[in-house]
Amino acid sequence: MRLQGRTAIITGAGSGIGRASANLFAEEGAHLALVDRDAAGLEETLRLVGEATTHVGDVGDAAFAETVVSDVVSRHGRLDILMTAAGFSVGGTVLTTDPDDWDAVFRTNVGGTWLWARAAVPQMQRQNSGSIITLASQLAIAGGKGNSAYIAAKGAIVSLTRTIAVDFATDGIRVNAIAPGAIDTPMLRRSFARHGNADEVREASRNRHAMKRFGVAEEIAQTALHLASDASSFTTGTVMVVDGGWLAA
Ligand SMILES: NC(=O)c1ccc[n+]([C@@H]2O[C@H](COP(=O)([O-])OP(=O)(O)OC[C@H]3O[C@@H](n4cnc5c(N)ncnc54)[C@H](O)[C@@H]3O)[C@@H](O)[C@H]2O)c1
Repeated sequence: MRLQGRTAIITGAGSGIGRASANLFAEEGAHLALVDRDAAGLEETLRLVGEATTHVGDVGDAAFAETVVSDVVSRHGRLDILMTAAGFSVGGTVLTTDPDDWDAVFRTNVGGTWLWARAAVPQMQRQNSGSIITLASQLAIAGGKGNSAYIAAKGAIVSLTRTIAVDFATDGIRVNAIAPGAIDTPMLRRSFARHGNADEVREASRNRHAMKRFGVAEEIAQTALHLASDASSFTTGTVMVVDGGWLAA
């Protein structure tokens, strides 16, 4: 088992990529702290993984991040893995995005990355080890239409991931982003549903991938496992693209 005895916090664990990663990490022997603002989603993930602590709250809240990290450290004495998968998008160009929505997207996606890294790094420094896995998007590299706040936030996550990686590389802490293509999760389905011509948009998105299909959350979980485990011991400050050939096509 590749994560035997390791301790992991996963945000956004109540759905999609976070849930699939929780499942895989549990199979690989990790102790899990599952974080989400959706209590029912977390309960469902807990049912699937069997054993974990669950923490309901907003990842944009600094005190919440500190509390969860403290709880994990007091239970297990260490924190090996932080995966920040909580995220959401609102559609819109810079002209049509409401400023409050812009702030909310940044608070969850970027705040939900930096505040959790900020809470986790001191413990990882004490251990001289740790892996932080953030969630960007292929759109942070390629750009895309009508999703300006989300794409800007994902671009910020790429830069933030690199800067945290460089700042703490000699403390035994590795920090890497995953940039998925379109993954068939509730978030993706909601983003298509925003369009009047949802079927057309969905098919255009599917066909935009060289592989002509969407990814599934379990495929991103496998990359997260690689980054969480010692298999990636010389990998830090990178963006691992898992996009079915979107960027290449
Ligand atoms: N699905 C895709 O196509 C895709 C592509 C690229 C990147 N991503 C990224 O992967 C991550 C996971 O996405 P997903 O597709 O699994 O989405 P999802 O909607 O299925 O799951 C996201 C989870 O995050 C939680 N969440 C959102 N805002 C929160 C907040 N402020 N505080 C606490 N929890 C919050 C939601 O309740 C939900 O359970 C996100 O960061 C997303 O941007 C997804």
